[in-house]
Amino acid sequence: MEIKIFENEKEIGEVAGRFYVDFINANPSCVLGLATGATPLPVYGYIAEKYAAGEVSLKDVKTFNLDEYCGIPQDDKNSYFTFMRENLFSKTDVNPANVGFLDGNADPDEESARYAAAIESAGGIDIQLLGIGRNGHIAFNEPGEEFTGEAWKVKLTESTIAANSIYFTDSEMPRYAMTMGIGSIMKAKKIILIATGESKAEAVRAMIEGPVTPHCPASVLQQHPDTVIYLDRAAASLLK
Ligand code: GLP
Repeated sequence: MEIKIFENEKEIGEVAGRFYVDFINANPSCVLGLATGATPLPVYGYIAEKYAAGEVSLKDVKTFNLDEYCGIPQDDKNSYFTFMRENLFSKTDVNPANVGFLDGNADPDEESARYAAAIESAGGIDIQLLGIGRNGHIAFNEPGEEFTGEAWKVKLTESTIAANSIYFTDSEMPRYAMTMGIGSIMKAKKIILIATGESKAEAVRAMIEGPVTPHCPASVLQQHPDTVIYLDRAAASLLK
Protein backbone atom coordinates (compact mmCIF):
# COMPACT_ATOMS: atom_id res chain seq x y z
CA MET A 1 0.00 0.00 0.00
CA GLU A 2 1.23 3.48 -0.81
CA ILE A 3 -0.01 6.15 1.63
CA LYS A 4 -0.29 9.82 0.60
CA ILE A 5 -1.28 12.45 3.16
CA PHE A 6 -2.70 15.84 2.17
CA GLU A 7 -3.83 18.97 3.98
CA ASN A 8 -7.52 18.69 3.11
CA GLU A 9 -10.07 17.14 0.76
CA LYS A 10 -9.75 19.94 -1.77
CA GLU A 11 -6.08 19.09 -2.26
CA ILE A 12 -6.96 15.40 -2.63
CA GLY A 13 -9.57 16.30 -5.23
CA GLU A 14 -6.94 18.16 -7.24
CA VAL A 15 -4.17 15.58 -7.00
CA ALA A 16 -6.34 12.48 -7.49
CA GLY A 17 -8.47 14.32 -10.08
CA ARG A 18 -5.33 15.26 -12.03
CA PHE A 19 -4.21 11.64 -11.91
CA TYR A 20 -7.55 10.55 -13.43
CA VAL A 21 -7.50 13.22 -16.14
CA ASP A 22 -3.96 12.24 -17.17
CA PHE A 23 -4.84 8.54 -17.07
CA ILE A 24 -7.96 9.04 -19.22
CA ASN A 25 -6.04 11.16 -21.73
CA ALA A 26 -3.38 8.43 -22.00
CA ASN A 27 -5.99 5.62 -22.05
CA PRO A 28 -9.18 7.06 -23.60
CA SER A 29 -11.08 3.76 -23.52
CA CYS A 30 -10.08 2.77 -20.00
CA VAL A 31 -12.38 0.98 -17.55
CA LEU A 32 -13.06 2.87 -14.33
CA GLY A 33 -14.58 1.41 -11.18
CA LEU A 34 -16.50 4.22 -9.49
CA ALA A 35 -17.74 4.87 -5.97
CA THR A 36 -20.51 6.95 -4.41
CA GLY A 37 -20.54 8.82 -1.11
CA ALA A 38 -19.37 12.30 -0.19
CA THR A 39 -15.67 11.38 -0.32
CA PRO A 40 -15.15 11.12 -4.11
CA LEU A 41 -17.10 14.33 -4.87
CA PRO A 42 -14.01 16.59 -5.07
CA VAL A 43 -12.48 14.15 -7.60
CA TYR A 44 -15.64 14.06 -9.72
CA GLY A 45 -15.84 17.84 -9.48
CA TYR A 46 -12.27 18.16 -10.76
CA ILE A 47 -12.88 15.79 -13.70
CA ALA A 48 -16.10 17.64 -14.62
CA GLU A 49 -14.24 20.97 -14.49
CA LYS A 50 -11.52 19.69 -16.81
CA TYR A 51 -14.17 18.25 -19.17
CA ALA A 52 -15.88 21.66 -19.28
CA ALA A 53 -12.53 23.26 -20.08
CA GLY A 54 -12.04 20.85 -22.98
CA GLU A 55 -9.06 19.16 -21.35
CA VAL A 56 -10.47 15.62 -21.18
CA SER A 57 -13.19 13.52 -22.78
CA LEU A 58 -14.87 10.50 -21.23
CA LYS A 59 -16.76 9.45 -24.35
CA ASP A 60 -14.97 6.11 -24.67
CA VAL A 61 -14.45 5.43 -20.96
CA LYS A 62 -16.35 2.47 -19.54
CA THR A 63 -17.57 2.68 -15.95
CA PHE A 64 -18.73 0.18 -13.36
CA ASN A 65 -20.12 1.34 -10.05
CA LEU A 66 -19.55 -0.52 -6.83
CA ASP A 67 -23.04 -0.83 -5.44
CA GLU A 68 -26.72 0.04 -5.52
CA TYR A 69 -29.59 -0.08 -3.04
CA CYS A 70 -32.26 -2.75 -3.29
CA GLY A 71 -35.97 -1.95 -3.21
CA ILE A 72 -35.89 1.49 -4.83
CA PRO A 73 -36.14 2.26 -8.56
CA GLN A 74 -32.94 3.10 -10.42
CA ASP A 75 -34.15 6.68 -10.93
CA ASP A 76 -35.10 7.22 -7.27
CA LYS A 77 -33.61 10.46 -6.01
CA ASN A 78 -31.51 8.52 -3.48
CA SER A 79 -30.29 5.76 -5.77
CA TYR A 80 -26.57 5.55 -6.41
CA PHE A 81 -27.35 5.68 -10.13
CA THR A 82 -28.97 9.10 -9.64
CA PHE A 83 -25.99 10.17 -7.52
CA MET A 84 -23.60 9.30 -10.34
CA ARG A 85 -25.77 10.94 -12.97
CA GLU A 86 -25.95 14.16 -10.97
CA ASN A 87 -22.31 14.30 -9.91
CA LEU A 88 -20.40 12.95 -12.90
CA PHE A 89 -22.28 11.45 -15.85
CA SER A 90 -24.43 14.49 -16.69
CA LYS A 91 -21.45 16.81 -16.21
CA THR A 92 -19.24 14.98 -18.70
CA ASP A 93 -19.65 13.14 -22.01
CA VAL A 94 -19.77 9.65 -20.50
CA ASN A 95 -21.75 7.54 -22.99
CA PRO A 96 -24.79 6.01 -21.20
CA ALA A 97 -24.13 2.79 -23.15
CA ASN A 98 -20.75 2.57 -21.40
CA VAL A 99 -22.16 2.83 -17.88
CA GLY A 100 -22.25 -0.40 -15.86
CA PHE A 101 -24.45 -0.52 -12.77
CA LEU A 102 -25.71 -3.24 -10.47
CA ASP A 103 -29.50 -3.64 -10.53
CA GLY A 104 -30.62 -3.79 -6.90
CA ASN A 105 -33.98 -5.21 -7.95
CA ALA A 106 -32.77 -8.13 -10.07
CA ASP A 107 -32.28 -11.72 -8.93
CA PRO A 108 -29.04 -11.42 -6.89
CA ASP A 109 -27.32 -14.53 -8.28
CA GLU A 110 -28.14 -13.76 -11.90
CA GLU A 111 -27.16 -10.13 -11.40
CA SER A 112 -23.85 -11.10 -9.84
CA ALA A 113 -23.01 -13.36 -12.80
CA ARG A 114 -24.11 -10.70 -15.31
CA TYR A 115 -21.94 -8.02 -13.67
CA ALA A 116 -18.84 -10.22 -13.43
CA ALA A 117 -19.22 -11.16 -17.12
CA ALA A 118 -19.73 -7.51 -18.15
CA ILE A 119 -16.58 -6.41 -16.28
CA GLU A 120 -14.59 -9.25 -17.76
CA SER A 121 -15.73 -8.58 -21.31
CA ALA A 122 -14.74 -4.91 -20.87
CA GLY A 123 -11.23 -6.16 -20.10
CA GLY A 124 -11.36 -5.79 -16.30
CA ILE A 125 -11.24 -2.64 -14.19
CA ASP A 126 -8.14 -0.48 -14.68
CA ILE A 127 -8.64 1.74 -11.63
CA GLN A 128 -11.13 1.10 -8.85
CA LEU A 129 -11.99 4.15 -6.75
CA LEU A 130 -13.02 3.44 -3.15
CA GLY A 131 -14.17 5.26 -0.06
CA ILE A 132 -14.31 3.60 3.35
CA GLY A 133 -17.12 3.25 5.86
CA ARG A 134 -16.64 4.16 9.53
CA ASN A 135 -16.66 0.45 10.35
CA GLY A 136 -14.04 -0.34 7.68
CA HIS A 137 -16.48 -1.40 4.97
CA ILE A 138 -15.63 -0.97 1.30
CA ALA A 139 -18.46 -0.70 -1.23
CA PHE A 140 -21.11 -2.34 0.99
CA ASN A 141 -18.95 -5.22 2.20
CA GLU A 142 -19.65 -4.97 5.90
CA PRO A 143 -17.44 -6.46 8.65
CA GLY A 144 -18.02 -10.23 8.88
CA GLU A 145 -16.44 -13.61 9.31
CA GLU A 146 -15.09 -14.02 5.80
CA PHE A 147 -14.11 -11.96 2.77
CA THR A 148 -16.79 -11.94 0.09
CA GLY A 149 -16.31 -12.94 -3.56
CA GLU A 150 -18.24 -11.56 -6.54
CA ALA A 151 -21.24 -9.19 -6.32
CA TRP A 152 -23.84 -10.17 -3.71
CA LYS A 153 -26.90 -8.93 -1.84
CA VAL A 154 -26.01 -7.60 1.60
CA LYS A 155 -28.07 -6.70 4.67
CA LEU A 156 -26.70 -3.34 5.78
CA THR A 157 -25.45 -2.89 9.35
CA GLU A 158 -26.89 -0.39 11.82
CA SER A 159 -23.66 1.64 11.60
CA THR A 160 -24.02 2.04 7.82
CA ILE A 161 -27.75 2.75 8.06
CA ALA A 162 -27.05 5.45 10.67
CA ALA A 163 -24.32 7.01 8.49
CA ASN A 164 -26.26 6.98 5.21
CA SER A 165 -29.84 7.62 6.39
CA ILE A 166 -29.14 11.38 6.49
CA TYR A 167 -29.73 11.34 2.71
CA PHE A 168 -33.17 9.72 3.04
CA THR A 169 -34.98 12.78 4.33
CA ASP A 170 -38.50 11.84 3.24
CA SER A 171 -38.30 8.08 2.78
CA GLU A 172 -37.02 5.07 4.67
CA MET A 173 -33.45 4.03 3.85
CA PRO A 174 -33.27 0.57 2.21
CA ARG A 175 -31.98 -2.23 4.45
CA TYR A 176 -30.38 -4.20 1.60
CA ALA A 177 -28.00 -3.42 -1.25
CA MET A 178 -26.27 -5.19 -4.12
CA THR A 179 -22.52 -4.69 -3.88
CA MET A 180 -19.42 -5.79 -5.68
CA GLY A 181 -17.68 -8.32 -3.43
CA ILE A 182 -14.16 -8.12 -2.08
CA GLY A 183 -13.08 -10.68 -4.69
CA SER A 184 -14.34 -8.53 -7.56
CA ILE A 185 -12.75 -5.38 -6.08
CA MET A 186 -9.39 -7.10 -5.61
CA LYS A 187 -9.27 -7.98 -9.33
CA ALA A 188 -8.88 -4.30 -10.27
CA LYS A 189 -5.46 -3.54 -11.68
CA LYS A 190 -5.09 -0.44 -9.53
CA ILE A 191 -7.06 0.74 -6.50
CA ILE A 192 -7.33 4.30 -5.20
CA LEU A 193 -8.96 4.64 -1.77
CA ILE A 194 -9.74 8.07 -0.39
CA ALA A 195 -10.61 8.78 3.23
CA THR A 196 -11.20 12.21 4.72
CA GLY A 197 -12.28 13.48 8.12
CA GLU A 198 -11.86 12.40 11.70
CA SER A 199 -14.81 9.98 11.57
CA LYS A 200 -12.71 7.72 9.31
CA ALA A 201 -9.51 7.81 11.40
CA GLU A 202 -10.11 4.56 13.32
CA ALA A 203 -11.13 2.64 10.18
CA VAL A 204 -8.05 4.00 8.40
CA ARG A 205 -5.79 2.88 11.25
CA ALA A 206 -7.30 -0.63 11.22
CA MET A 207 -7.04 -0.83 7.41
CA ILE A 208 -3.36 0.15 7.31
CA GLU A 209 -1.86 -0.94 10.63
CA GLY A 210 -4.20 -3.69 11.78
CA PRO A 211 -4.24 -7.35 10.77
CA VAL A 212 -5.78 -8.43 7.46
CA THR A 213 -9.19 -9.55 8.68
CA PRO A 214 -12.79 -9.57 7.39
CA HIS A 215 -13.68 -7.75 10.62
CA CYS A 216 -12.15 -4.73 8.81
CA PRO A 217 -12.92 -5.48 5.13
CA ALA A 218 -10.65 -2.65 3.88
CA SER A 219 -7.62 -4.37 5.49
CA VAL A 220 -7.62 -6.82 2.56
CA LEU A 221 -6.13 -4.00 0.46
CA GLN A 222 -2.81 -4.66 2.22
CA GLN A 223 -2.64 -7.69 -0.10
CA HIS A 224 -3.41 -5.82 -3.32
CA PRO A 225 -0.29 -5.20 -5.47
CA ASP A 226 -1.14 -1.61 -6.49
CA THR A 227 -3.22 0.31 -3.96
CA VAL A 228 -2.76 4.00 -3.21
CA ILE A 229 -4.45 5.53 -0.16
CA TYR A 230 -5.16 9.27 -0.20
CA LEU A 231 -5.78 10.70 3.29
CA ASP A 232 -6.31 14.13 4.75
CA ARG A 233 -4.63 14.94 8.07
CA ALA A 234 -7.76 14.17 10.10
CA ALA A 235 -8.24 10.71 8.59
CA ALA A 236 -4.51 9.98 9.08
CA SER A 237 -4.46 11.25 12.69
CA LEU A 238 -4.36 7.82 14.38
CA LEU A 239 -1.56 6.37 12.23
CA LYS A 240 1.75 5.66 13.98
C1 GLP B 1 -21.39 3.98 1.48
C2 GLP B 1 -20.88 3.42 0.17
C3 GLP B 1 -19.37 3.28 0.17
C4 GLP B 1 -18.73 4.55 0.69
C5 GLP B 1 -19.18 4.80 2.11
C6 GLP B 1 -18.57 6.05 2.72
O1 GLP B 1 -21.64 3.00 2.43
N1 GLP B 1 -21.48 2.16 -0.18
O2 GLP B 1 -18.93 2.97 -1.13
O3 GLP B 1 -17.34 4.43 0.64
O4 GLP B 1 -20.59 4.96 2.09
O5 GLP B 1 -19.29 7.17 2.30
P1 GLP B 1 -18.82 8.66 2.49
O6 GLP B 1 -17.79 8.90 1.46
O7 GLP B 1 -20.05 9.48 2.24
O8 GLP B 1 -18.29 8.77 3.87
